[in-house]
Amino acid sequence: MAAPSDSSPQPPTHVAIIMDGNGRWAKQRGMPRVEGHRRGVETVRAITAAARELGVRYLTLYAFSVENWKRPAAEVGALMSLLEFFLKRETAGLVKNRVRLRTIGRTQDLPEVVRKQLDHAIAATAQFTEQTLVLALNYGARTEVLDAARAYAADLAAGKTQPAGDDWSAFSRYLYTADIPDPDLVIRTSGETRISNFLLMQAAYAEFVFTPTLWPDFTKADLEAAIADYHRRERRFGLTSEQVSTPSA
Ligand code: FPP
Repeated sequence: MAAPSDSSPQPPTHVAIIMDGNGRWAKQRGMPRVEGHRRGVETVRAITAAARELGVRYLTLYAFSVENWKRPAAEVGALMSLLEFFLKRETAGLVKNRVRLRTIGRTQDLPEVVRKQLDHAIAATAQFTEQTLVLALNYGARTEVLDAARAYAADLAAGKTQPAGDDWSAFSRYLYTADIPDPDLVIRTSGETRISNFLLMQAAYAEFVFTPTLWPDFTKADLEAAIADYHRRERRFGLTSEQVSTPSA
């Protein structure tokens, strides 16, 4: 991973991306939607490399939502095939570049072939700590909260945990992202300005960048521009501007 020079600001630790616009990219070219997804996979590869080069330690990509099952069956099937293809093709590269693969979401409900590839890639990269690529698969933030609440209630009933009161960190351990830092920057491509059930809890203090660029056209330069935008923001976490600039204020 690139070591940013002393003079450059630290890159965000965790960048999360809502990859949107594959369908429109294809439609603009008179191509079937799946062609947009196919090009989107190449962007996944390029942006994972770019994030590594820029020193971003965690990259989360919203690849398939719990709502995406409602798309036409052929498109869902194509997305699953692309996922399988991506995992087969990229696992060796992830190992070579020391990128740990993780998932968030109800991956147990994905097709078995995909789960097998995922299990293999996750096991093959589990020892790496420099960069983590998190794929959100069959992910929905509301589903995540339900799953967390259920597991938390079960542990409470079994006496394995104490009531959290207002201690968020105690409850957040039950989220899919238990050992992943909250995103600093959330990017959505394609001009839409929605969060679409993505990391609702974890993005509580994230900065958002919305770009009109469609996902297949998104490049390292676009990622750098989003990070530059992030650096221009003042993150206050509920404090005043004076408190942030003068911590004793
Ligand atoms: C949104 O575009 C994109 C998706 C629902 C899927 C994203 C999937 C990929 C980029 C490929 C598979 C992922 C990996 C990690 C291999 P859209 O279809 O909603 O676009 P539209 O809004 O223009 O119709």
